[in-house]
Amino acid sequence: MSITEHDSAGGRLALSGRADLAVRAEALVKSFGDQRAVDGIDLAVRPGEIFGVLGPNGAGKTTTLRMLATLLKIDAGRAEIFGVDVAGNPHVIRQLVGVTGQYASVDENLTARENLWLFGRLQGVASARARRIATELLGRFGLEEAADKPIAQFSGGMRRRLDLAASLISKPPLIFLDEPTTGLDPRTRGQMWETIRDLVADGCTVLLTTQYLDEADQLADRIAVIDHGRKVAEGTPDQLKTTVGNSTLQLLLAEPGEVPAAVEVVRRVLRSDPVLSPEQGRLNVALDQADLAADVLIALRTAGVSISSVSVAKPSLDEVFLALTGHEAGDNETDAKENR
Ligand SMILES: Nc1ncnc2c1ncn2[C@@H]1O[C@H](COP(=O)(O)OP(=O)(O)OP(=O)(O)O)[C@@H](O)[C@H]1O
Ligand SMILES: [Mg+2]
Repeated sequence: MSITEHDSAGGRLALSGRADLAVRAEALVKSFGDQRAVDGIDLAVRPGEIFGVLGPNGAGKTTTLRMLATLLKIDAGRAEIFGVDVAGNPHVIRQLVGVTGQYASVDENLTARENLWLFGRLQGVASARARRIATELLGRFGLEEAADKPIAQFSGGMRRRLDLAASLISKPPLIFLDEPTTGLDPRTRGQMWETIRDLVADGCTVLLTTQYLDEADQLADRIAVIDHGRKVAEGTPDQLKTTVGNSTLQLLLAEPGEVPAAVEVVRRVLRSDPVLSPEQGRLNVALDQADLAADVLIALRTAGVSISSVSVAKPSLDEVFLALTGHEAGDNETDAKENR
């Protein structure tokens, strides 16, 4: 994919660096006061992929995207979009990136059609063409019926779709989606996933943030897991799952007080530590082979630790997160701002 193919303004773009990556970020830092919201993040997003940035509330996801989109100053480190330096070429970057906010950024009093038309006009699209694009996008996002209603009457899911539609007006080659499905019901979430896959099938590259492990698993080709402004892991969903073993023995102890004894037994049998869940008495044991579960269970019985439920499963990204960060996704709400 070359940039000139997608450059809607029609001009050739001066490339300052290598354009083999859609996003290249090196050691990005952003501080707010003495808090480092983003604390040295590297990212490499390949053209044509869906790259997921996964992390709990306050991890630094939105801050990272905002820096890459030129909406926030980069304090340290550097970033390129298709080889174009972000800090040095904000106008070029804005042509290359479509940004969808975590908060729909449209005018409440205007209708959906008027909003899209306005967005087009603001991006320099001629009036008649903006009207045509608006109609096409309203159709594509299933908003025809609501097209002439003011946004104030829109549901959360309709707003998200309109917000995404607005970011597509200029046909950017790279789209940033900040928590595209937070707060949506399961059906609307599924529709949004389909829409995102369609974008990629059309040749777009997508960088999305999510706090939903299943979303990253479903959509992303590769995932960076971030926590407290740092990247704690990166890989394909399968690679991340493999970091916690091929399968997981999930145990719920009858007596939460016996957790230390159970941890001792697991260490003795497998020479590795189980992952403790914040839920009382629950622990997950990574297994290289599923049949090691029997060894653990026999040793637990011998040690007199009683179990109220047991299962062996392929590890979920939830467990990956717990294993990598020592806490569950969504577990550091205290230092996070409100999420709509
Ligand atoms: N403008 C700001 N001023 C001060 N602190 C900020 C600002 N924006 C973000 N922060 C802080 O930086 C940290 C990272 O915030 P950020 O919004 O990037 O997290 P996030 O991963 O997007 O979280 P969420 O899932 O809740 O959207 C948080 O502790 C947040 O409170
Ligand atoms: Mg955010």
